[in-house]
Amino acid sequence: MNPGKKVVLSAVQPTNSAHIGNYLGAIKNWIPYLDLYDCLFFAVDLHSITVSQDPEELRENTFRSIATYIACGIDPARATLFVQSQVPAHAELAWVLTCASSMGELSRMTQYKDKSQRHGAHIPTGLFTYPVLMAADILLYGTHLVPVGEDQKQHLELARDLAERMNHRYPKDSLGGESPLFQVPEPMIGKVAARVMSLQDPSLKMSKSDPSPGACVFLNDSDKEIEKKFKRAVTDSGSEVPAENPSPGIQNLLQIQASFLDEPYDQVLARYVGKQYGYLKVDTAAVAVEKIRPIRSEIEKLLGDRKYLTKIINEGRLAALSRSEKVRNEVYKRIGFIGH
Ligand code: TYM
Repeated sequence: MNPGKKVVLSAVQPTNSAHIGNYLGAIKNWIPYLDLYDCLFFAVDLHSITVSQDPEELRENTFRSIATYIACGIDPARATLFVQSQVPAHAELAWVLTCASSMGELSRMTQYKDKSQRHGAHIPTGLFTYPVLMAADILLYGTHLVPVGEDQKQHLELARDLAERMNHRYPKDSLGGESPLFQVPEPMIGKVAARVMSLQDPSLKMSKSDPSPGACVFLNDSDKEIEKKFKRAVTDSGSEVPAENPSPGIQNLLQIQASFLDEPYDQVLARYVGKQYGYLKVDTAAVAVEKIRPIRSEIEKLLGDRKYLTKIINEGRLAALSRSEKVRNEVYKRIGFIGH
């Protein structure tokens, strides 16, 4: 941990197991920050309940999320790992920011528009206000950088707008001077695999909730399942990889392989130009199997050691509590709440 350095913060919802979109688009990109910055990574269980969750599964998946971060290389000695619901200031600041946001700006969120379509006439209110909670997560810690996949870019823009609005509205600090209330955060979106697509429909983002079997590769899939999913990946009616403008399905496989191998996209493409699609599918499956196997076995090992995981989560909770309460108190004072 590097107090005094720039703050890096990110999170994944503890629903189901993480998939390769979460890993390649987000978690893997957190690792380079560990030695340089003050890092906070957490499991956003408050976000998960925007859609109904089985309590036992949510509990299990919350442990699984923290185990996944560690298994992917997020060393708990170099980052604060915690669980969102254990730190009340997230929900408290979310309410304050809800009062500073407008229905109009929340209605424009594309993720809300997509997700709400699945709920007919009964759209959960939490799906609508969800990006405000995410803004609270970020602004509570004076976050500078937020490494996320491309789908979170619009939510980050909202967090920036809310930070600027609050800074403008409440410029006077509790010491009698003027200072910005919130740091305005920057999104950090990777160049490769920032949007991993479904293996069954490359026009859709890979998503945990995709009902189509084979669309999504999870970090707890077996070697066989991973191979099967890649071999059956939907591409297009062609047969050989073209040098220019490969179809979205082919680009997706190339991006996945490039990201797993930390190789430039063009270099991976050059290896397959003129070759049958089958080679790309088989090789990408092999790369994914090799990279996922040690992560999967480490997750299972960590899940077997609840004492250790609980210790990490408790330490993270204490660190996050004291940091977040300071910011929340400053917000409450500036707003005019008494006794903080
Ligand atoms: P979530 O849980 O949907 O996804 C977690 C992270 O994985 C990225 N991601 C992807 N990247 C590439 N391709 C994909 N197919 C793909 N699917 C998901 C997401 O961009 C994200 O980085 N609202 C957030 C969680 C959150 C958060 C925060 C993130 C809550 N508070 C504060 C950052 C900072 C979410 O639902 O992510």
